[in-house]
Order: sequence, then C-alpha cells, then structure tokens
Amino acid sequence: MEMKVEGEGVDSYEEIMLIYRAALQQIGTKLEILNEEFQHVHKYNPIEHIKSRLKTPESISKKLRRHGYEVTLQNMVRYCNDIAGIRVICDFTSDIYKIADMISNQSDIRVLAIKDYLQNPKPSGYKSYHMIVTVPVYLSDRIVDTKVEIQIRTIAMDFWASLEHKIQYKFPGEVPEGIAKELRECADMVSELDEKMLTLNNEIQEISEEEGFL
Ligand code: GTP
Ligand code: MG
Repeated sequence: MEMKVEGEGVDSYEEIMLIYRAALQQIGTKLEILNEEFQHVHKYNPIEHIKSRLKTPESISKKLRRHGYEVTLQNMVRYCNDIAGIRVICDFTSDIYKIADMISNQSDIRVLAIKDYLQNPKPSGYKSYHMIVTVPVYLSDRIVDTKVEIQIRTIAMDFWASLEHKIQYKFPGEVPEGIAKELRECADMVSELDEKMLTLNNEIQEISEEEGFL
C-alpha cells in the first residue's frame, strides 16, 4: 500500500500494525481470562469462541477513499476504527450484554462508541452488538491507547451474518429484492431460535438447580 506520511511523530506502517496486533492480543487475553473466571464461578462459558483479524492494507485504503480521506498513516489511525477487529461468539443473547459489561468495567479500557444492532437491527436484518474501545499498549518508551472494534453476537447471528456477507459479495451494489426478503425472514427465524434456546436453557438451569446438580 502506498501511503503518504505527513507531519511529525507518525510511525511507519509496520510499527502501527504491530501496535494494533498487540491491542488485539490484549483484548483477546482479557476475554479469555473473563471466560475462565466465569467458568470457575458460574460453571459455564459465556464465550463459545473468538475470532480476530487485522484489516488488510487494501481494505484500509479502500475505506479511507470511500469516506473521502487521503490515504495517509495519520488518517488511517484517526478515521479507521476497525483496523483491529475481534468477534466474540456466544451461545445465548443474554451472554452478549454480560460480555459487553465485563469489558466496559475494566478500568484500562475506554469505550468510545457502542452500536446496539440487537435493540436496533439493520434494515437487512443484521443483528450484533458493536463496541469501539481503546486499550493501552505498552511500548518501550510510551503507552499508546489503541482502538479495537469488538463485535459480539450469538452463533445463530454469526451464521446469518456470514451467509449475508457472502451474498453481498456476490451482488455488489444491490442484493436482488427476492433474496433480501428471504434474508430478512431468516433473520426473524434467527431471533426466534435465539429466544427459544435461551428460554430452554433457563428451564434446564432451573431444573438442575432444584435437583441440586449444580
Ligand atoms: P464499516 O464501514 O463497514 O466498518 O461500517 P460502519 O463504520 O458503519 O460500522 P458498523 O458498526 O455498522 O459495521 C461494522 C462492521 O459490522 C462491518 O464491517 C461488518 O463486519 C459488520 N456489519 C455491519 N453491518 C452488516 C450487515 O448488514 N451484514 C453483515 N454481514 N455484516 C455487517
Ligand atoms: Mg468494518
């Protein structure tokens, strides 16, 4: 990627990516610790699995151009909030807010923005809980508060989002209305499934507690 470096105090692309990679590791470790502690205290894992990725240089340039910014290292750090992205997949909708709370409650994490697509799904039917946070990365000579995008969703929501993403890729621009409608129906089915699974799980928990299995 060709990038124009402007002004002073701007690091190289490699150094910037090293910092974002470290931020991803920090958040990943925090989540793993929370999951283990939760298992210890409550006897279950709120996190099914975690996926993380660094945005590719091509995709960073494309996003900056799309938003009308010149492709520079400064603009990438300032305007691209999802260079470091982590996706947390859980079993039940109730786990989503538990995880979000546990993250926000950590004193070294600062929450910059929240988009709650569970309360307000996108017109496509997309559901997920998004947070933009900063985490301090400790370098040899300074501390850099680094942005990470965290997406939290259920397995069912993730299944839907990955299919919808593939379809969007197949139809750049506009997804044919017939397919878009079926996707919205699938999104409703996903919500219904998530609700039923949560109710069922709560019932199982209650029975187990009554019978003293826990
Ligand atoms: P981007 O420019 O795409 O990063 O979106 P944004 O800045 O408006 O932020 P938003 O929180 O809405 O979306 C961030 C990310 O969520 C996207 O990059 C996708 O990974 C995911 N996402 C958002 N909307 C959709 C959607 O309708 N379908 C799917 N499959 N993923 C979505
Ligand atoms: Mg994105």
